[in-house]
Amino acid sequence: MDKLIVTGGARLRGELEVSGAKNSALPILCASLLTADTVVLSNVPRLHDVATMLKLLWRMGVEAERDGHKVTLRGDRISFLEAPYELVKTMRASILVLGPMLARFGQARVSLPGGCAIGQRPVDQHIKGLQAMGAEIEIEQGYINARAPKSGRLHGARIVTDMVTVTGTENLMMAAVLAEGETILENAAREPEIGDLAELLIKMGAKIVGAGTDRIVIQGVESLRGAEHAVMPDRIETGTFLCAVAATGGDVVLRAARPETLDAVIDKLREAGADIDTGPDWIQIRSAGAEHMKAVSIRTAEYPAFPTDMQAQFMALGCVSEGTSRVTETIFENRFMHVQELNRLGANIEIEGKTAVIQGVPRLSGAAVMATDLRASAGLVISGLVAEGDTTIDRIYHLDRGYEQMEKKLSAIGAKIRRASA
Ligand code: UD1
Repeated sequence: MDKLIVTGGARLRGELEVSGAKNSALPILCASLLTADTVVLSNVPRLHDVATMLKLLWRMGVEAERDGHKVTLRGDRISFLEAPYELVKTMRASILVLGPMLARFGQARVSLPGGCAIGQRPVDQHIKGLQAMGAEIEIEQGYINARAPKSGRLHGARIVTDMVTVTGTENLMMAAVLAEGETILENAAREPEIGDLAELLIKMGAKIVGAGTDRIVIQGVESLRGAEHAVMPDRIETGTFLCAVAATGGDVVLRAARPETLDAVIDKLREAGADIDTGPDWIQIRSAGAEHMKAVSIRTAEYPAFPTDMQAQFMALGCVSEGTSRVTETIFENRFMHVQELNRLGANIEIEGKTAVIQGVPRLSGAAVMATDLRASAGLVISGLVAEGDTTIDRIYHLDRGYEQMEKKLSAIGAKIRRASA
């Protein structure tokens, strides 16, 4: 199993290119199930989760060809309408095949994802929405067995989800584009990745208004055609690098970024003392280092508020900032597993219910730590970059799920970080 060894203390300087967004690429790959024509995607990040999604689509019969960051998909010979447990258990986003499969083929069988490290994460809202569109759904032996009504086609519906769900909104949007009549998604998630998916679907011939707001209106069409699309830049990867530079100190320009998708993160970093400039597709951050940063509190919530996927990285910065900060997690019930690991590096964090109280310390010291989930791993990397001595991070397969060559990108701007393969 690979490990990362980070030697702290280096300032970061130079330029980096942001990769395509994982959370946009995954639903967008699933959109290829909605047409028999060819879908050509560019800026697809090379990540473990993307490889898993391609494997799943391939199992279903989608022809998928990958050339660097370009992926060409053709779903004219789909024969296996199932997402098996072996794949779904390794990646919850596999649930995103349910809506498109059901909409185009009138049936689907998808393993229930089950809980995961950061919380229970049920998919009841995906099911409730599809049922409102006429689907008959049974849960049997750990699988969701779904069928369209007798007509073979889902019908439009007004769906109000109990909570804001990102993949739920995406699944229902993909189901609605081929349903008969109008679907209205109320309380829809507003994450920019939903706008990116809608952009591709519209190119494919879908009729969607309001993606990016909490009310999405979709007029179903009979079929969709192929299209080309470039995946949007990854705002979480961008934010992770911004936190890293804020903590280590330095001067870095992030290229191919979308600053307008990071308002909450940029505001908090400025409040902490980082100097940030933005242009249409770049962000420059200058920082004197964490010892000159002020502790700033955050509360995670749905977009456009502070993203839960940036919580661990921001906490890593707070560990070495001046003063006390509070990090409140409102989206997932168990997303503080990195706290114990950060404390092993010398941080002073206490958990009080949904809030972590972080007392900034002058220095962290390197130790062996374990990655527990994707974004927690990124928080550990940031801590390793500021800790004295070596930090060895085990189980970095979590990191590889969602960051493209993180150690290479960080090395290129001066970090001392290397991968050790066991
Ligand atoms: C997506 C992102 C993930 C991010 C999360 C929150 C992808 C592939 N993943 O995950 O990186 O951390 O949004 O921004 O885009 N819930 C239910 N029932 C449902 C659906 C959700 O109770 O049917 C709950 C969840 O348990 C959670 C909350 O709603 O507490 C939000 O989850 P959701 O937005 O669905 O997260 P994901 O789409 O799984």
